[in-house]
Amino acid sequence: MQRLKRGILIAIEGIDGCGKSTLARNLHATLTRQSIATVLTKEPGGSPLGKELRALLQQQEIPLDPKAEYLLFAADRAQHFAQLIIPALYNKQLIISDRMGDSSIAYQGYGRGLDIAMIKTINAWSMQDIRPDLIVYVRIEPDTAWQRIWARNEALTTFEQEGIDFLQRLAHGFDTLFESQQNVIILDGNDTPDILTQKAATAIISWINTQQLISQ
Ligand code: TYD
Repeated sequence: MQRLKRGILIAIEGIDGCGKSTLARNLHATLTRQSIATVLTKEPGGSPLGKELRALLQQQEIPLDPKAEYLLFAADRAQHFAQLIIPALYNKQLIISDRMGDSSIAYQGYGRGLDIAMIKTINAWSMQDIRPDLIVYVRIEPDTAWQRIWARNEALTTFEQEGIDFLQRLAHGFDTLFESQQNVIILDGNDTPDILTQKAATAIISWINTQQLISQ
């Protein structure tokens, strides 16, 4: 195993149907093959409490109040950081999280219309002021994502049921959020899973080398 000088936190973000979860899995496998100790996790649902919260969020018959919805994601995040992310960073591992705080800005902020400054404040609090080192944003047109979601032929999640307008607000949210941010790797979700993995892995490894984070 290659030893890292410190833990590294990477979030994968994007709208439903962009291919982010496949990329997270493939990246985990690729980086592990390159002898980097990598942990794969997700929000919501990275901790045992988070799994219960994820089920709660997906099973509501009466729509949740947007603030209640956000606070459940924030509770998941607080537990995820305390139980999993912070210990893994302490152990100098590389963590890949399928979604993190920025999903709340896109979904509950741009999607549901909650105050974005408030979300940023509570996100920082629940994340103990830790920010991801890198964000991989898998960008895709809402129309393409919508077609993929339908083609899966699976039951739609609460958010997928919101329809194409909602997806458009999310895409606009992510674009606005990430266009001026330094540490974001923007990938084209139309690329094949293999190409996406290769591009993300190359960008991550080159960042690690530039930061000189491998112990010699
Ligand atoms: P899930 O099936 O776990 O995820 P995914 O589509 O990412 O594989 O469903 C999680 C849903 O919750 C997804 O539609 C995005 C949404 N979400 C929020 O609305 N806010 C958040 O803060 C997070 C982390 C996710």
